Amino acid sequence: MNQISKLNEVTEAILKNKIAFDEDGKERKIDDAISRPEAYMLYKMVIAAQPAVSIEVGLAFGISALVFCQAHNDKKTMSESIHYAVDPNQLTFYRNTAIVSVKAAGLYKYLKVLNGPSHLEIPNLLKDNIVVDCAFVDGWHTFDYTFTDFFLIDKMLRPGGYIAFHDVYGRAKQKVINFILTHRKYEIAEDLMEIESEPLVKTVKFFLWRLLRSPSLIFSWYHWKYQTKNSSGLLILRKKENFEPNFDFFKNF
Ligand SMILES: C[S@@+](CC[C@H](N)C(=O)[O-])C[C@H]1O[C@@H](n2cnc3c(N)ncnc32)[C@H](O)[C@@H]1O
Repeated sequence: MNQISKLNEVTEAILKNKIAFDEDGKERKIDDAISRPEAYMLYKMVIAAQPAVSIEVGLAFGISALVFCQAHNDKKTMSESIHYAVDPNQLTFYRNTAIVSVKAAGLYKYLKVLNGPSHLEIPNLLKDNIVVDCAFVDGWHTFDYTFTDFFLIDKMLRPGGYIAFHDVYGRAKQKVINFILTHRKYEIAEDLMEIESEPLVKTVKFFLWRLLRSPSLIFSWYHWKYQTKNSSGLLILRKKENFEPNFDFFKNF
């Protein structure tokens, strides 16, 4: 795979130390972010999309936002560069930690934070006819919220664009992926799914641990296809075309 040697110092330091600082200067322990291999995979996706506009649901401490903003900075095409990041808790629980980190990395000019839940914020972008080139869904992880995030983003995502989902080892996320693959024209971006190799013992440990926590994963194609290769939970889909089925279409998913 194409190795990315470094993202930027701020991102690398946060990924290594699992600590960031909020707007009060308080140290915050990072426990709900993408991992380093996932950060590199996400970076490759954003670079592949060469986006003018990108969006993520779930800003939290800002690791994925740092990756998006860095890729906007590094992309080759000259265009506008906006990364929308949606989160109802940035001002409150997270005390603007993401904004502090993105500013420290010198990337704040790319970031537009939408302080609200995705089902209220994304429709405003839709009303403004915003088109996005790539997206990341990492907000509230239940089926209904993840599905709603996809349903809305699909209406803005250009054909050829990408949408990534985090924690796809969860059954709710897998249900949404199954819906997309049966009711829309998307394909798994296998070319972007390759990640740094990890010790076999780690892969096996996570494969078994997730299966013990959720035994129905034994029937999950995702678990067998991807979690036997590594422990990452990031899945990237490429949109083949704008498509919605006829009004009475249904396929089991
Ligand atoms: C797992 S964290 C995201 C981690 C982040 N993507 C990263 O890698 O740094 C999930 C985030 O989703 C946010 N969230 C929860 N409900 C949401 C909603 N309805 N709309 C948007 N974001 C939501 C939470 O506040 C939290 O910040």
